[in-house]
Amino acid sequence: MTILESTIERNVKISKKIKSSFNLKSKSLNIKLNDLTNKRLKVRRKMKQKEIYRCSICGKVIEILHPASPETICCGKPMMLMEEQTKDWKTEKHVPKITIEGNKVTVDVGISMGTPHPMTDEHYIMWIEIICKDGCYERRFLKPGMEPKATFTVAKPEGFWAREYCNIHFLWKS
Ligand SMILES: [Fe+2]
Repeated sequence: MTILESTIERNVKISKKIKSSFNLKSKSLNIKLNDLTNKRLKVRRKMKQKEIYRCSICGKVIEILHPASPETICCGKPMMLMEEQTKDWKTEKHVPKITIEGNKVTVDVGISMGTPHPMTDEHYIMWIEIICKDGCYERRFLKPGMEPKATFTVAKPEGFWAREYCNIHFLWKS
């Protein structure tokens, strides 16, 4: 065997070793990635009924009536869960205020606080709803120009809460 042949043979052996080592590392890496993915799937929270999701690309808003797969995809991306915000954080009011008179329940956004939420084309309350512990669920859709307020009739004037959805500041609950 010439010196050149011996050098070539040695280089081939080295490259085989490198390839084998790379394959092992990549297999090991794949396993780790799979483990991570599985862990991520396990910790991902379960979808719940009445949750509101929004697409950050097209602005579509959906509500979950029956929870199933852990992700809802729109425009190629998972839709964002709208958290129920409960504390006002600006002079503008968003937390719905509930007023009860017998079986009549009025929910307003800012009116009873002296600063009604805007109801312009650009910024307005899209809907107000009440949800009862016993399963009742009623929603009023609003339009720009209307008062940020809705009135409902309930069987029992207790055991319910209100939510409202602002087109810019999203979901609020009281
Ligand atoms: Fe708002």
